[in-house]
Amino acid sequence: MKIRSNGIVIAIDGPSGAGKSTIARLLAERLDYIQIDTGAMYRAAALLLSRANVDLSDLVAVEEFCRHINIRLELISGRQVVHANGLDVTDQIRTPEMSLLTSRTSTLKPVREALLKSQQQMGIKGGVVLEGRDIGTVVFPDAEVKFYLSASVEERARRRFEELAGKGELVTLAETIADVIQRDRQDSERDIAPLRQAEDAIMIDSSRLSVEEVLASMVLLCRNKIPDLESLI
Ligand code: DC
Repeated sequence: MKIRSNGIVIAIDGPSGAGKSTIARLLAERLDYIQIDTGAMYRAAALLLSRANVDLSDLVAVEEFCRHINIRLELISGRQVVHANGLDVTDQIRTPEMSLLTSRTSTLKPVREALLKSQQQMGIKGGVVLEGRDIGTVVFPDAEVKFYLSASVEERARRRFEELAGKGELVTLAETIADVIQRDRQDSERDIAPLRQAEDAIMIDSSRLSVEEVLASMVLLCRNKIPDLESLI
C-alpha cells in the first residue's frame, strides 16, 4: 500500500446527524491526525454567498464569487474554528436556516469544484480524517480507510433536536424530523457528488451505539486494515 508522508487518509461519509463530527474529532485526536469537517466548509461557503447576495441561479456569478473564497479550519484549544475570508463564522454557520441553505448551495457545481480542490490539497499528504458526504466517492476515492456512518432518521433528528434545544433554538422535534428528511433528500438526490456509500466503505449504524462504541469499532477496523497504525493507537 502506498504510504503518504503524514499517514493515511480516513474518510467518514454519511447523512446529517449520524455523529460524523464527534467521531471524526475523537478519531483524529486518538491518531494525532487533522480533522477536516467538509460540511463546515460548505456551510461557510453558503454563508459567504448569502451575505454577498449572490444570485444562486446565476452560475457564472457563483463561479466568479467562489474564485475569491478562502475557507480555513483551525483547531484552537480543542475547538474547531471556521474562518471564511478571514472572519470567524464558527457559530453563524450552525443555524437551521444555514443548514437548509447549505444543502441547496452544495448542489452547485462551482461551489463543489472550488471546495473539492481545497479539500484534496488539505488531505493529500495524509494524516487526516475527512468527514462529509462524498469523501470516499469523489474527494479521496483512494482513501486508505472509508467508513459510512449512518443512523435512523428518528435517532438523527432526536440528536439534532437536543443539540439545538441546548443552544436555545426554538424548534420542535417534528420540525427537526422534517428538516432531516428534506436534507437527506437534497443530499442524496443531487446530480453532482450525491451522498452515497462507497463500495469499499465499511458501514456502521450508530442508532443503538454509544460514541465510545462507534469509536472503538473504527479504531479496531483501522488497525486491522493498516497494521502500521498499531504503534499509534
Ligand atoms: O455535515 P453538515 O451537516 O455540516 O453538512 C452541511 C451540508 O453540506 C449538507 O447539507 C451536505 C453538504 N455537504 C456536502 O454536500 N458535501 C460534503 N462533503 C459535506 C457536506
